[in-house]
Amino acid sequence: MDKIIVEGRNKLSGSVSISGSKNAALPIIASTILTAKECALTNVPRLNDVLVMNKLIKTVGGDTDFTGNTLYIRNKNITNFKAPYDLVKTMRASVYVMGALLGRYRQAEVALPGGCVIGERPINLHLQGFEKMGAKITIEHGYIKAKAKKLKGTEINFDVVSVGATANIIMAAVLAEGRTVISNAACEPHIADLARFLNKLGAKITGYGSKEIEIRGVPELKGCKHEITPDYIEAGTFMAAAGITNSKITINNAPLEHIEIIIQKLEEAGCKIKKTGTKLTVQGVERPKPASIETRPYPGFPTDMQAQWSALMSLSSGASIINETIWEKRFMHIPELNRMGANISVKGNTAVVEGVAGLSGAPVMVSDLRAGASLVLAGLRARGTTEISRIYHLDRGYERIEKKFEMLGAKIKRVK
Ligand code: EPZ
Repeated sequence: MDKIIVEGRNKLSGSVSISGSKNAALPIIASTILTAKECALTNVPRLNDVLVMNKLIKTVGGDTDFTGNTLYIRNKNITNFKAPYDLVKTMRASVYVMGALLGRYRQAEVALPGGCVIGERPINLHLQGFEKMGAKITIEHGYIKAKAKKLKGTEINFDVVSVGATANIIMAAVLAEGRTVISNAACEPHIADLARFLNKLGAKITGYGSKEIEIRGVPELKGCKHEITPDYIEAGTFMAAAGITNSKITINNAPLEHIEIIIQKLEEAGCKIKKTGTKLTVQGVERPKPASIETRPYPGFPTDMQAQWSALMSLSSGASIINETIWEKRFMHIPELNRMGANISVKGNTAVVEGVAGLSGAPVMVSDLRAGASLVLAGLRARGTTEISRIYHLDRGYERIEKKFEMLGAKIKRVK
């Protein structure tokens, strides 16, 4: 299995371009099932998760061409309404096809996605929403079956903010009869990008980006061309890399309106940040100031930046607190950071980070996507060599991460 080898203590410099957002591309690709017309998606990141979603579209009968970062999808003849376990088990976001299949064909059968290392990952809110719209849900033999004579618009109030449930209900509602209002909806940039895409197809979605989203059902959708929004978590990851290596780098196409909290926290840690148009220049620090965080749904501090922040704070000049309020087990990177000399203790969903002056390179193992990002950041700062294994997790969410860091001057390579 591939590994990434990092020789630490090399300054970064120059500029980097951010890829399209994984968490926007996945629901948008699934939502193309809602139309029989061709959709052309540009700025689609070539990630393992995207390749799995592309395979899922073909499995249900869609026809796709994925060249470079452009994905053409034609879902004229969907013939199979089942998302098989062998695909769903490799990518939980496969559950997004349920909302799309139900929305267009009033039927869907999707393998139960199960949990992952960061948490149990329930989908009760998705299923409750579908039932409220008129679907009959049965679960047996590890599959969720959903059927509906028709889907009727209704009011749905999520008692927990859920990105996946918000996306799935939007997809089920765009062709439903009447009006659906989602309260306590997710406001993440990828939800807004999904809504913008569906509106280009002819859907009638308003309020996206706020906690109340309204969808008025339409009889059918057309095709369109859409550019996937840049990945604000990837942007944040490179910003944290400048911070942890005391380097100055420029991010060419940073989605500035999506990273306000990340900018605020990096400035609190002592980084200097300058915006010029869509370019963002970050100047890091030798010893970041301690800056505590609490992960929250957007626009709060993103849970998908928590692991990267833990790495940065492990070098701070004091103590900081990291409260993870979204996922019950998202501290799997901590033991690996501690093996590199960090001094972080975890109690429940709180980590206390006592900053240290330096880290030492070590062989480390990636447990999940963002834990992998935090270990790359730590390796860039550490004295000596860090050998990072199980990097297939990283490839799910970062397009050629080692190439991008190499272009910035890091001594980093992928070995077989
Ligand atoms: C999405 O996961 C992202 N994945 C995750 O990013 C991200 O961490 C998460 O949103 C939170 O922002 C994609 O977009 C593909 P949720 P999702 O439903 O939709 C609870 C990454 O690193 N909940 O917003 O699965 C749940 O337990 C990945 O890119 C229910 O209780 O997350 C959690 O506590 C990791 N019932 C909270 O809501 C449900 O039916 C937020 O989960 C659904 C969720």
